[in-house]
Amino acid sequence: MKKIPIIIFLFTLLVMIAIISSCRSTSSLAEAKSGAQLWGENCLRCHNSPSPESFSDEAWDVAVMHMRIRANLTEPEAVKIAKFLKTAN
Ligand code: HEC
Repeated sequence: MKKIPIIIFLFTLLVMIAIISSCRSTSSLAEAKSGAQLWGENCLRCHNSPSPESFSDEAWDVAVMHMRIRANLTEPEAVKIAKFLKTAN
């Protein structure tokens, strides 16, 4: 008689843990993307991206500012891409 509620409780707990951990893993996955990865995913959609060496730090800031609007990037994504391009030039 007493065993059934305990099993239900444990099952509910397990489901809750599964839901919480799946939410965490997807959000940390998005945050963990590197500038290089974001660049590859976003900047090659419309054109062959110029290689990082083709522009100076200042020119990349301007280019990423323009392309941020075109690519519909968030501020942190654009900052990561700009950082990647500047370290690779
Ligand atoms: C929605 C399409 C689109 C996306 C996404 C996009 N671009 Fe562009 N990009 C363009 C177009 C169109 C041009 C040419 C017209 C212009 O310069 O405004 C261009 C031009 C450029 C230029 C200038 C090329 C030159 O030789 O002067 C650079 C640099 C550039 N993009 C970099 C990027 C980077 C870095 C990203 C990622 C953050 C990006 N683009 C994402 C459409 C896009």
